[in-house]
Amino acid sequence: MQILGIDIGGTGIKGAPVETEEGVLLAERFRLPTPEGAKPGAVAEVVKSMAENFNWHGSIGCGFPAVIRDGVAESAANISQKWIGTNAAVLFSQATQCPVYVVNDADAAGLAEVTFGVGKGVRGVVLMITIGTGLGSALFIDGKLVPNTELGHIEVECEDAETIASDVARKEQDLSWKKWAKRLDKYLTTLENLFSPDLFILGGGAVKKQDQFLPYLTVHTKIIAAEFGNDAGIVGAALAASYQVNQK
Ligand code: BGC
Repeated sequence: MQILGIDIGGTGIKGAPVETEEGVLLAERFRLPTPEGAKPGAVAEVVKSMAENFNWHGSIGCGFPAVIRDGVAESAANISQKWIGTNAAVLFSQATQCPVYVVNDADAAGLAEVTFGVGKGVRGVVLMITIGTGLGSALFIDGKLVPNTELGHIEVECEDAETIASDVARKEQDLSWKKWAKRLDKYLTTLENLFSPDLFILGGGAVKKQDQFLPYLTVHTKIIAAEFGNDAGIVGAALAASYQVNQK
């Protein structure tokens, strides 16, 4: 099935048409900045521009940085508080005149990795962490997703983990890779103690620089960098939408 995958992040909105049986992009991805304040109307306009850019008239899958239940946003960490209670699926469908399906962005990225990437066929507990503007999580048990886990907001040393260990925290606080890696290590160790995962998959923008921080990590759990890199969110959003289209 061909679906337009869109990954809505706190900083950028990226999209590309995806062949969901193979998990491949059918065109080069297109990126637009997330509008200042990330309010619902402004983000919907960008989603519309994304569909127009690809002259898209079919189904669309969106990964969105919030708890999403049946298309409705139930949290707002790096986006406008106006999202809480907003049906993002309905809003984007109206804006694009296409059927739109919305899931949490980290869940989408995890689905791509577990279906086509480094998590394919891995049994047991797999925990994907996306490191970008925020910290996102996707938890899988024998390949099955437990949605909306939001483990980027667990407490590490009395702080919201995301505020100390995200890529934005590294940049804004001007941390060396080593200093930041130590924080990430504390975060991953906390997750390790809580979930005893069989595998950590690290994704998101920071992973491009994995050589700078992987050597400093001391967690015992196996760690693999996401195979799809920054495209995982696009591929996974399309994949999640294909499941919902097939269910109809
Ligand atoms: C949000 C999550 C999201 C993550 C990555 C967090 O701030 O609460 O829903 O998955 O950022 O974008």
